[in-house]
Amino acid sequence: MAWDPRQYDLFQAARARPGHDLMAALPPVRPARIVDLGCGSGRLTVELAARHPGASVVGLDNSPEMLADAPQADGRIAWQPGDIAAWNPADPVDLIFSNAALHWLDDHATLFPRLVARLAPGGVLAVQMPVTDPEAPFRALLHRLAGQPPWAARLAGRLRPDAVRPPAAYHRWLAPLAARMDIWTTEYLHVLDGPDPVLEWTRATALLPVTGTLEGAEREAFLAAYAEGLRALYPPDADGRTLFPFRRLFIVATARG
Ligand SMILES: C[S@@+](CC[C@H](N)C(=O)[O-])C[C@H]1O[C@@H](n2cnc3c(N)ncnc32)[C@H](O)[C@@H]1O
Repeated sequence: MAWDPRQYDLFQAARARPGHDLMAALPPVRPARIVDLGCGSGRLTVELAARHPGASVVGLDNSPEMLADAPQADGRIAWQPGDIAAWNPADPVDLIFSNAALHWLDDHATLFPRLVARLAPGGVLAVQMPVTDPEAPFRALLHRLAGQPPWAARLAGRLRPDAVRPPAAYHRWLAPLAARMDIWTTEYLHVLDGPDPVLEWTRATALLPVTGTLEGAEREAFLAAYAEGLRALYPPDADGRTLFPFRRLFIVATARG
């Protein structure tokens, strides 16, 4: 499954907005060590480094394509290839930031407490993830098509499961470790330009397991069927733009001092 930074950047402003909202919700800490987990091509990592000029910053990601697109100019940022699931820093971290990445990992009941345990006393875990609601129309359609012939056999078990749990679950898992927590959801109304914009949006993310599995005519037929269904679910407004509601979960937890 290969990430494509150019496809991901097609809707750069809409995708960055939740990351900026997460940054704005950070408590007034002065972290010495920052890690951006699933940093992608590092747009937000660079902003984090600019916000905290004294900090050393690591951007960790397991996509060579995304990391290859990260800017090399800032010597303070170390771009590190690696799997978040195996991440185990030598020293405690003051700020773990992760925007739109942790929903790609399973078993949040284990993952989230493990991340908070990597924080220094008073350190902060700040996470934003899409709420991977299987009933969101674009997801429901994706799962319905993937479960139908002729694609079902090739796509069985390929789509990401619904990894993100209800907000209260994160509160319960982190309560023994956190001095403070702020957990909320926001539904953005993304306003997208261009033809088939929800298809183009998902091609960079939720569709990757499909496009990474199917090939040739089979893949094109799937994309055509998905595009047609999306047009009916998200018809363009009178001004030609498409409204795409998208719910996201935010978690900001401060480790006990
Ligand atoms: C939707 S992109 C978000 C990139 C960046 N955080 C941003 O907001 O622009 C998700 C990123 O998570 C990375 N990712 C997904 N699973 C990962 C894992 N297990 N370990 C490391 N990176 C992962 C992907 O490679 C991808 O770059």
